[in-house]
Amino acid sequence: MSTDHLNVEFKLHPVPECLLSRNPPPHVNSFEQYKKIHEESVKNPTEFWGKLANELLTWHTPFKTVLSGGFEHGDVTWFREGELNASYNCVDRHAIKNPDKVAIIYEADEPGQDRKITYGELLRDVCRFANVLKAHGVKKGDTVAIYMPMVPEAVVAFLACARLGAIHSVVFAGFSSESLRNRILDASSRFIITADEGRRGGKTIHTKKIVDEALLGCPDVERVFVFRRTGSSVPFCSPRDVWWHEELDKQRPHCPPEICNAEDPLFILYTSGSTGKPKGLLHTTAGYLLGAATTVKYVFDYQDGDIYGCMADIGWITGHTYIIYGPLALGGTSVLFESTPVYPSPSRYWEVVAKHKITQFYTAPTAIRLLRKFGREPVDCHDLSSLRVIGSVGEPINPEAWEWYNEVVGRNVCSVVDTYWQTETGSIIVTPLPGATATKPGSATFPFFGIDLVVLNPETGEEIKTTEAEGVLAIRKPWPSMTRSVYNDHNRYLDTYLRPFKGYYFSGDGVGRDCNGYYWIRGRVDDVINVAGHRLSTAEIESALIMHNATAEAAAIGVASELKGQCVHAFVTLKPNCENTDVKDLILQVRKSIGPFAAPEKVYIVNDLPKTRSGKIMRRVLRKIVDGQTDSLGDLSTLADPKMVDTLIETIKKS
Ligand code: WT7
Repeated sequence: MSTDHLNVEFKLHPVPECLLSRNPPPHVNSFEQYKKIHEESVKNPTEFWGKLANELLTWHTPFKTVLSGGFEHGDVTWFREGELNASYNCVDRHAIKNPDKVAIIYEADEPGQDRKITYGELLRDVCRFANVLKAHGVKKGDTVAIYMPMVPEAVVAFLACARLGAIHSVVFAGFSSESLRNRILDASSRFIITADEGRRGGKTIHTKKIVDEALLGCPDVERVFVFRRTGSSVPFCSPRDVWWHEELDKQRPHCPPEICNAEDPLFILYTSGSTGKPKGLLHTTAGYLLGAATTVKYVFDYQDGDIYGCMADIGWITGHTYIIYGPLALGGTSVLFESTPVYPSPSRYWEVVAKHKITQFYTAPTAIRLLRKFGREPVDCHDLSSLRVIGSVGEPINPEAWEWYNEVVGRNVCSVVDTYWQTETGSIIVTPLPGATATKPGSATFPFFGIDLVVLNPETGEEIKTTEAEGVLAIRKPWPSMTRSVYNDHNRYLDTYLRPFKGYYFSGDGVGRDCNGYYWIRGRVDDVINVAGHRLSTAEIESALIMHNATAEAAAIGVASELKGQCVHAFVTLKPNCENTDVKDLILQVRKSIGPFAAPEKVYIVNDLPKTRSGKIMRRVLRKIVDGQTDSLGDLSTLADPKMVDTLIETIKKS
């Protein structure tokens, strides 16, 4: 791990003055206040979270025990006797008070086709659709797969499941039919919610067709609910398939929310780990919702009347927490953006910000880097004065992109929040706070409330207590929105997160702490690759490549990429008589097996892969060669055939 940053002077950006003098002032308005609250929250998490849980959530039955269990046995529970319903908390209570307040601003793929949905309308839609699900047999505890484009009905689908206590398992609509099938099978979902087609960046996505392909291997699926997004004619298979609009028409817009226990599962979301098989991370009701609401309030300094715009896809955790559950739990207005940052022009984000007067804007470094290439003109011609907080998430943001975001988009008057978290953490865990934290470009700064962050020595597992530290990021105490299990595989949960370092949650990320105590996320220390904020594992890509009948062996690595942060390079050895295999076919295989976003940027056909005597592929050697560091390949004595390296270097150079 590099320690270069410790010698570099980073520019410190103070909290913009104009944020502090606003009325109302930020929820936290000095660093001392942040420090004090953080210390108390870590010293006494029960008091801290207990109070917030009563402040931010509405309970059907109050809880008595704030926290029980721990990391040792992986039996963490929060608010265990408490009962509540997530959809009630995100919809009903706001609809009762304020039915005409806008809950969702839907900005469709084509500009000009936006639509506003009030809390009153959302409640009626959620109730109706919950009744549809019920009528077709969906019950509390059932898993329901959602494979949908970015339309308001997707939000309705999430919340209708939550209303019934059914567990949604959302699959990002960019995943292939094979990936979708694996997730449906792993979660034993008997119900699928989808759409005829999707639209993104002017292109059509054949959503229903992909679902049909996936379902060829899912005999237990009983019902597919199909929302009509484009109206094109799509294959329809009655009685398995039913139309959303036809079913909705049959139901009344009232459906009492199912009373759920605080620890009842709210959803599963699959994510890549260091093996080929994605894990279905389980999130529970109260803790997750509290983490989501608390972070929207403090990290984005959410105030009444704000228009909150998170540009992520609902298929990822960022969309779950920061488009749906967080903003709606607070009764806020959330933007649902169906398009891309560059459609129909690289001004699109800024048009949307200006049109809807967005106050908080949240996107990924990959989008910022892309837009920076178009210069400031597409930004400057729009009125962005509504913005107060601009956020970044998904991967480390390089200081150049950070400065551009701050200066051009934020015009030096916004707070830039580089937020670090994971699907596993449920909500943001390391971040600046708008009114409190002076920022350093590239640093996610300090732990959020309730997060007892430590840097561990990866070899000894001991905590590094010096201010300046370099090691792996771990957390000492449970927090409410942490994942509770891997669906149907609790042992894997323990092995991945709680057993590597006894007494800690292990993040899988490397981290540095500088002389001022600022944290710098270094990226994964396992075999996880982060492509444009999308998490993939080398093993997953390798399994995809092996599925091609010409492949003998495959190795995948992450390589630094200017736009995407990282991209995938793959190395393949071919079976005898397959020498004429086209590299394009191998790339296509990955697209088909996982999804287009996983496609390797480069595939090298090689004679042999660098392996240890026990047959383990040494990806480190591959990474160094691609990086041009052939004179520092390190210790090659463990290679089964050290001589193969020269041939490999030649082959890679030539490709
Ligand atoms: C991994 C989690 C949770 C949001 C979307 C990604 C990397 C995330 C940052 C950041 C540096 C970051 C980490 C993490 N990551 N945010 N601000 N700075 N790295 O969720 O797919 O679960 O991926 O994304 O490596 O472990 P995810």
